[in-house]
Amino acid sequence: MAINNFLEADLEGKKVLARFDFNVPIKDGEIQDTTRIDFAMPTINALLEKNISKLIMMSHLGRPKGEIKKKLSLEPIARYIAEKLGVEVYLSETSTDAGIKTLLNLGHIKLILLENLRFNPEETKGDNEFARTLSTYGDVYINDAFGVSHRKHSSVFHITQYFSQKDRFSGLLLANEIKALDKLLNFPDKPFVCLIGGAKVEDKIKTIERLLIKADKLLIGGAMAYPFLKAKGIKVGKSLCSPKDVDLAKSLIARDKGKKIHLPIDHIVSESIESEASIIDNKNIDDALSGFDIGPKTIASYSEIINSAKTIFWNGPMGLFEIDQFSKGTNSIAEMLANSDAFTVVGGGDSVNAINKSGYSEKVSHISTGGGASLEYIENGTLPAIQNLKYNH
Ligand code: 3PG
Repeated sequence: MAINNFLEADLEGKKVLARFDFNVPIKDGEIQDTTRIDFAMPTINALLEKNISKLIMMSHLGRPKGEIKKKLSLEPIARYIAEKLGVEVYLSETSTDAGIKTLLNLGHIKLILLENLRFNPEETKGDNEFARTLSTYGDVYINDAFGVSHRKHSSVFHITQYFSQKDRFSGLLLANEIKALDKLLNFPDKPFVCLIGGAKVEDKIKTIERLLIKADKLLIGGAMAYPFLKAKGIKVGKSLCSPKDVDLAKSLIARDKGKKIHLPIDHIVSESIESEASIIDNKNIDDALSGFDIGPKTIASYSEIINSAKTIFWNGPMGLFEIDQFSKGTNSIAEMLANSDAFTVVGGGDSVNAINKSGYSEKVSHISTGGGASLEYIENGTLPAIQNLKYNH
């Protein structure tokens, strides 16, 4: 099975329809983190250098549930891309309105951005007719939307059937994601160490199961750690810990025959997120307190493991890093990854925010633009929309 690389194709004079994941945080009309758009720029630039006739860009933003919501308009994204390129970007009124055909016929227009695909309820339902309508805007189709390739949505999954195998391609971002995640899963240099943090065991159970097979060590942190500690009979005080997560953690510990799972040995705790933080020097947390970050002894022991790793995957913060007094664990991990010679991959929205915030993002080998998508890729070794781009050769 192969995927076409558009760099090798003759696209001169063609209308190129490309799906991106421009689902970025926006507050008061301002983009808060441009990573996903910046990472799509190499594809956009490479296409423009190919003398195409037009680039028709598509994306979703947020979850408007099939309704037009002004604050989820792609207008700030159109503005940002136009500023970056110094070329006007025409934003359509909706993603299927009659005006699009007019824009497509105007010779001087190079860049068109279709308004939020999810303003149409058909998109998330995976409607074929909606996919077919979108497909009529381009001669060829590119998927560069890794972050949404785990969804069977019209613009990323169903649409591929309307392009012949020679007319559908992966974008550069998608190709980079596949390359980095395949290396992790199929031929990681050993030792392969994974850091898993974040809130719920339930959300990541399949990923952890898969990593228990693939990785040499799994270092657990963040709220994720407390159900594991409780499952081992350790006191976790008032820390976040659903009974379901404790049961799941128990089953993972039972399956961990190689003793790969490592848990925090001390904590940063507090009565509440507003109260002053203190260190608990051992595993057990008193009844009145909650854990909000890993402690210094855990940082030191995780550091030793990370320093000897040749491949590292990090998903999920080690604590409540948005609050200064609980950010040390996450920031220390970001610094360790930045200083490591290993092949380092950071995946998932929160850990990417954390690495960006710490200023070390340039120093990791690969930052995945996918949250759910990168976890599902690790679970299954591919994603539905990526499979649909492939062909037998
Ligand atoms: C993401 O932010 O992970 C992607 O853009 C997918 O968004 P979704 O979870 O709303 O489908």
